[in-house]
Amino acid sequence: MAHKMANSTLQRQVVALLIFLCMRDAVCETLQYSISEEMEIGSFVGNIANDLGLDNRKLGIRKARITSEGSAQYFQLNIHSGDVVIEERIDREMLCGQIVPCLLYFEFRLENPVHFYRAEVQIQDINDNPPIFLKKRLVLKIHELSPPRTPFILESAQDSDIGVNSVQNYTISPNEYFRLDVHSGSDGSKYAELVLEKQLDREEQHEINVVLTAIDGGLPPKSGTADIKILVLDANDNFPQFSQLVYKVGLKENSAQNSWVCKVTATDKDQGSYGEITYSFNQVSEKVVKLFKLNQSTGEITVQGSIDFEETRIHEINIQATDGGGLSAHSKVIVEILDINDNSPELIITSIVSPIPEDSLPGTVVAVLNAKDRDSKENGKIICSIEGITPFSLKSSFKNYYSLVTEIPLDREKVSEYNITIIAMDCGSPSLTSQETVRVQVSDVNDNPPLFSQNSYTIYVNENNNPSLLVGTLNAVDIDYEQNAKITYSLLPDEVGEISVASYVSINPANGNMYALQSLDYEKIRDFRTVVRATDGGSPSLSSNATLQFQIIDENDNPPIILYPVQDGASLSSDLVPRSALADYLVTKVVAVDGDSGQNAWLSYQLQKSTDPSLFNIVEHNGEIRTSRPITERDNMKQKLVIFVRDNGKPSFSTTTILNVLLVDGFSEPYLQFSDLHSEEGKDSKLTVYLVIALVFISFIFLVSMVVFIVFKIIKTRRSQEKYASATGNFYDDSNMPKNLIDVNGTGTLSQSYRYEVCLTTESGGSEFKFLRPLLPNFPPRNETVEANLGINPHSQTLCNPVDQEDPTTEVRRGVSRLRVE
Ligand SMILES: *[C@@H]1O[C@H](CO)[C@@H](O)[C@H](O)[C@H]1NC(C)=O
Ligand SMILES: *[C@@H]1O[C@H](CO)[C@@H](O)[C@H](O)[C@H]1NC(C)=O
Ligand SMILES: *[C@@H]1O[C@H](CO)[C@@H](O)[C@H](O)[C@H]1NC(C)=O
Ligand SMILES: *[C@@H]1O[C@H](CO)[C@@H](O)[C@H](O)[C@H]1NC(C)=O
Repeated sequence: MAHKMANSTLQRQVVALLIFLCMRDAVCETLQYSISEEMEIGSFVGNIANDLGLDNRKLGIRKARITSEGSAQYFQLNIHSGDVVIEERIDREMLCGQIVPCLLYFEFRLENPVHFYRAEVQIQDINDNPPIFLKKRLVLKIHELSPPRTPFILESAQDSDIGVNSVQNYTISPNEYFRLDVHSGSDGSKYAELVLEKQLDREEQHEINVVLTAIDGGLPPKSGTADIKILVLDANDNFPQFSQLVYKVGLKENSAQNSWVCKVTATDKDQGSYGEITYSFNQVSEKVVKLFKLNQSTGEITVQGSIDFEETRIHEINIQATDGGGLSAHSKVIVEILDINDNSPELIITSIVSPIPEDSLPGTVVAVLNAKDRDSKENGKIICSIEGITPFSLKSSFKNYYSLVTEIPLDREKVSEYNITIIAMDCGSPSLTSQETVRVQVSDVNDNPPLFSQNSYTIYVNENNNPSLLVGTLNAVDIDYEQNAKITYSLLPDEVGEISVASYVSINPANGNMYALQSLDYEKIRDFRTVVRATDGGSPSLSSNATLQFQIIDENDNPPIILYPVQDGASLSSDLVPRSALADYLVTKVVAVDGDSGQNAWLSYQLQKSTDPSLFNIVEHNGEIRTSRPITERDNMKQKLVIFVRDNGKPSFSTTTILNVLLVDGFSEPYLQFSDLHSEEGKDSKLTVYLVIALVFISFIFLVSMVVFIVFKIIKTRRSQEKYASATGNFYDDSNMPKNLIDVNGTGTLSQSYRYEVCLTTESGGSEFKFLRPLLPNFPPRNETVEANLGINPHSQTLCNPVDQEDPTTEVRRGVSRLRVE
């Protein structure tokens, strides 16, 4: 657009210049004009006629015309007025760009005469172009760690205009990070510098948008903008950060492999690799490495080894998180292991006292135990008990120590050994147990005496035994042990009469075997008793007694001895029988004794030979000789009877005797009268007669007995000396056995005969009636062959049978009784 105001001054300047320079030659003349660009077509540039001083009316005639240089015709000449106007739009920026000045030329030609003039038109710039940024969007990458005042040169804006119309200033939209510095280049052009004013932080704002405005100096100014996008480049300026400083987790012991423990998480605000975190253990013990596994990328911790509460209760795992830039952070995982009841209690016997004496007082400590459990709390709490029922109890002495004590007195004889099973149980759930056996032996104390099976023993010994015969074995039992049960047997000093028992029997102290020391004679000693003592080897020793009753068993070693009729060889006595006697008249009684007893002394009588076998008979079991029939005149006066007496022993002994019987006349009357007196006269006179008769008879028998006794003694002594060198003499002398036996026979004087056996002792000063007992019957021998006489003279022996036979069949026989006097 032209400015009309400026035009006039411009035209005047151009004209003046033309006149001054080029008037001397037509050709040389140069007209100068100045116009603004972008003026409207037809706009006035200058009046060339006026400027050249030509008559504008002659222009047509002279065929005046203008020709632009170049192809484009910007100007046109009005032939009538001589005005040059703009024919075509003139854009200075297109024509000249930045060239200053911008000139257009044209020729002004005249004919008749030919003249041409050169005209130059200076095109003035107008601010018709705004500044333009070639890139409307600028991306600027700035490292976040760039220090403040760092400049960033920005691309300049372009303005086709020149001079002041070109870019004169830059501004940016307000922001907190940058300011803009505008500088002038060496050519005067302006450029802008973005200056960092404040530290960037990508993590806070990773992108900043500002608008850059370029302003030119036109009037009015024009501006152009560009968007600048500032991308803040990441720097590894952020440390990874754990979500927790310390992670606390509980983990059951014995957790399986790959069990989940926990997950640590760290974050990093940085980007990309700077924000990529890898986890690792940091300065952890070897144990932790073995037990736990850490996933480097996820931070998951899992179990790798076997977790044992008893080994380690707390694991501290230091974990490091590292980002791709090498920055790291630390955290700690505290893994608290939770106990589970996986350890059985442990029982340790610290001391044991065995054996213990059975007399230990209740409360005696037998063993000390220590119970342990590696688990903790309830799982490690132990309860100890004894299995079964024992005489022991557990006492808790102090923490987890127990003593095993006796509760009641012990008795080795009942239980000599205890296997005490002690059970330890923890309180976990389920609870675990363990057990230990304490073997306690009970040692013996001598608390039991030896015991015999019976209080008394009866030992039967056959007479005439071998000396040193084993007569029996005693056995006492002591339930104690070993030395305390070692029994020694002994016979207590005792006496049989005046002879010590020790001379009859002895006992083996070790085994209780009893031996006879001498041959025993039933006829001298029938029984004796002594006390045997069993003593154990304890200290002090205990003992017990038992009574020993020795019974000597009779053997048939004595032949019957006939006391009546007396056989002294010299004078054979005769019995008188009245011829008037009827049948069954009691002639006499054969009296025989046997030193033996029982069967061996049961005598039987037989008539072996007689002058007239039909006249007499003998009662087999009592030796009474009676008439079988009445005596006749024809019977011989002298009758001789051979009587055979035999005992019932096996083998049996026998003896014969001869009895002479005289048959006489008129013999029976006085006896009958005598018996009448007995009833009629006074008792005194009758008794006197009896006593006189008895005394006479006794004296007679006594004398005979003494003779027989002496003979017997001599024989016996000789026999004993032959058999046993010692001790026999003693027996005989010391024996308190009755030495005399006298049978009183009232035959012939009494119609009813009473017979008494009288034993007299040599020791007692006077005779004394002790008791009166019935005489036992001598049963007749069975039909056995009569044994031969053993050559012992029956007349030479007189023996007393001091003890009655113990035969339950004992009965009182009429008219026969034995009077024993001691
Ligand atoms: C550029 O513009 C700014 C703000 O508009 C102004 O302060 C400054 O003076 C200008 N500079 C020039 C050389 O005109
Ligand atoms: C870590 O965990 C990821 C995802 O669970 C898994 O793919 C990777 O194999 C694990 N790395 C290791 C070493 O176990
Ligand atoms: C105790 O145990 C021992 C060894 O096991 C065994 O020899 C003995 O017979 C047992 N005693 C009892 C009384 O059970
Ligand atoms: C055994 O007998 C003796 C003598 O008779 C007596 O002193 C002792 O006390 C008795 N002992 C026992 C245990 O009976």
